[in-house]
Amino acid sequence: MRDAAIQAVRGNNNLPKMGCEVGVWAGGLSSIFLRNFDGLVLYMVDCFLASNLGDNEKTQKAMKAAFADTVEYEDRRIMLIGKSLQVAHLIQDKSLDFVYIDAAHDKESVTNDISTWYPKVKKGGVISGHDYSRKHPGVITAVDEFTKRHNYSIHKLTSVWWFLKR
Ligand SMILES: C[S@@+](CC[C@H](N)C(=O)[O-])C[C@H]1O[C@@H](n2cnc3c(N)ncnc32)[C@H](O)[C@@H]1O
Repeated sequence: MRDAAIQAVRGNNNLPKMGCEVGVWAGGLSSIFLRNFDGLVLYMVDCFLASNLGDNEKTQKAMKAAFADTVEYEDRRIMLIGKSLQVAHLIQDKSLDFVYIDAAHDKESVTNDISTWYPKVKKGGVISGHDYSRKHPGVITAVDEFTKRHNYSIHKLTSVWWFLKR
């Protein structure tokens, strides 16, 4: 999955300079993005304590790990702690080279995430995400509906989906 995510957010072989991962959990993928893309400034969005995962201790551990595992890149990571839809306004429209959506996986959340984050991506940038798989039918429906409505065809690399913004 990690390799697929790296490939997806590169779009047409670009070296992204500004990106956002929506839903970072323990920061495993965030640190991979930061390591692979020299100079990338990465917004890391997660609501952590307000998440509905239930297990607070586990969630707090994940938050600490997200900070610790990306500390090497602290001058290039911007942690935004809050609900995806509530923090999106902090990011300028058409400023991102990619957004990688991997927060809540129900249809409504993914639909809202795609429509909220889509305007943040610049023309030619990548809208991408995880878990386009039978295990997460809500992701499939949300991605399919959005791309159909806006006449995009999606690319898939294992369970990672992406399309380039026109
Ligand atoms: C599947 S995990 C992310 C995994 C991470 N992308 C990776 O590859 O390592 C989903 C994360 O999304 C967060 N999340 C769920 N709903 C959210 C929301 N509405 N806003 C922000 N974060 C959310 C959860 O707290 C959790 O940490």
